[in-house]
Amino acid sequence: MFELPATLPRTGIGEEAALDQLGAAAMARAADLAAPDVLAHMDPPSASVAAQMAYLVAQANQNMLHPATSPFATLAEERVLEWIAPAFGMAWGQFCSGSTLANLTALWAAREAGARTVVASAEAHVSVPKAARILGMGYHPVPVGEDGRLIRSALPDLAAAALVLTAGTTGRGAIDELAPLAAKWLHVDAAWAGPLHLTAYAERLAGIEAADSIAISAHKWFFQPKGAALALFRDIDAKASITFTSSYLARPNSGVEGTRSAAALPLLATLLAWGRDGLAERIERCMAIAEELAQRLEADPRTVLRQWPETGVLNWRPAATDSAGVIAALEGTSSAFTIGETVWVRQVAANPHAEVDAIWARISAALG
Ligand SMILES: Cc1ncc(COP(=O)(O)O)c(C=O)c1O
Repeated sequence: MFELPATLPRTGIGEEAALDQLGAAAMARAADLAAPDVLAHMDPPSASVAAQMAYLVAQANQNMLHPATSPFATLAEERVLEWIAPAFGMAWGQFCSGSTLANLTALWAAREAGARTVVASAEAHVSVPKAARILGMGYHPVPVGEDGRLIRSALPDLAAAALVLTAGTTGRGAIDELAPLAAKWLHVDAAWAGPLHLTAYAERLAGIEAADSIAISAHKWFFQPKGAALALFRDIDAKASITFTSSYLARPNSGVEGTRSAAALPLLATLLAWGRDGLAERIERCMAIAEELAQRLEADPRTVLRQWPETGVLNWRPAATDSAGVIAALEGTSSAFTIGETVWVRQVAANPHAEVDAIWARISAALG
């Protein structure tokens, strides 16, 4: 096995040897996210066309901060945002390196618009309280019901609040009721389930158009290499509040990040290659895998299904024991999520190449 030197080597081994040794080790010791029996986290395999485009992007190494050095990439970024933002009722948007930053960017705009606290469900992603802390805003978690959705009757006064609703919670994929509320700012964290809005399941995200801002991770259900997300905004005026200028900048710098890669190009390549239908087909395949597994888990006396996988996130447990042994046996293809006192096996249908029989064989083996 390839041993990494413990300290920075004084003399290099050469580029070919470095790539041979490191490349082989990195690939051999990485989970195969596209394997037929893998249904683990919110991490899809990247689209091959996107991975290849990302290699070209790395080679060109353009900086989106400087449009003169990245004229086509700048156009491509604008175009892909023009394709996606209106499908969610939004006027504009920007790329971020993940939804952690997309949530922070959106809540920054909310604060600039006068929001003083962030209100979100107790099952909101950790990036939401983190953003509130960074922005010096109060944070008010609201309990969720049995279905994992924020309990609306438990909401505080929202006149000076940024309300964050989640479309596809991290632990169990629940979609908070998206009907608008009279908040100072309404942000929808659709990091996981946002792309469902472009599929036959679009109705599940009905109401998302009323948001002031939306976060979507492109490295989740848009099948992009890591480091791509979208922060979308309904009102163009929000842009000025999160934009800075400087004499060394040819164009104003909007959002949290400075130097950014041309992450829009792999997404554009994917959407050009697959079209909206091809994207929808892959997500719908993931949903069908989750649904068929849910049916098997529900029907099998050895297992208990926690709730129907509304956005492809499965929570289940063995009927006779606690989940620990099964989670250990399913290493690499499951994680855990605790609801109340109970630990549930969590499996996320992010892999369109998964096969239900292959996953069921692993589950059956894990159950013993
Ligand atoms: C609901 C939700 N919001 C935000 C995030 C953070 O996104 P990222 O990992 O792209 O920073 C996640 C990640 O899993 C998530 O599930």
